[in-house]
Amino acid sequence: MRTRTVFGLGVVFLLTLLIAVGCNDATVESPTTNGAGDEADTAALTLIEDNCQSCHTLDQAFRPRAEGQWPQVVDRMIGYSPGLLDDQEREAVIAYLQENRSN
Ligand code: HEC
Repeated sequence: MRTRTVFGLGVVFLLTLLIAVGCNDATVESPTTNGAGDEADTAALTLIEDNCQSCHTLDQAFRPRAEGQWPQVVDRMIGYSPGLLDDQEREAVIAYLQENRSN
């Protein structure tokens, strides 16, 4: 009898723990930033993955620089490969790099 009760309590405890952990996960995953920004970031990241690793690695393309330098760097890359990005893509890539890869 006694063992059963202890076992039962153990199961209840474990279930509570699982539910608590589950809820915690949900809280962590809920987005805190606005969705539009995230989508722009994903688009810029795709542009960079598609256009910036033909001549060097992505690691190099992502090497952090002072925020104000990114337009120059991206323009230099476009100079190496005219037509690499159109105006809109250039803006998106620069904005992404300035926000995420500046030191
Ligand atoms: C046509 C070839 C080419 C393409 C495409 C290209 N790059 Fe480059 N990149 C280079 C060369 C060559 C260098 C080294 C000389 C220099 O820094 O100007 C370089 C250097 C860099 C550096 C400096 C890395 C360091 O070691 O500090 C960064 C940052 C960079 N590229 C970012 C980019 C980004 C972002 C893109 C995409 C928009 C891109 N590159 C696309 C040729 C290219």
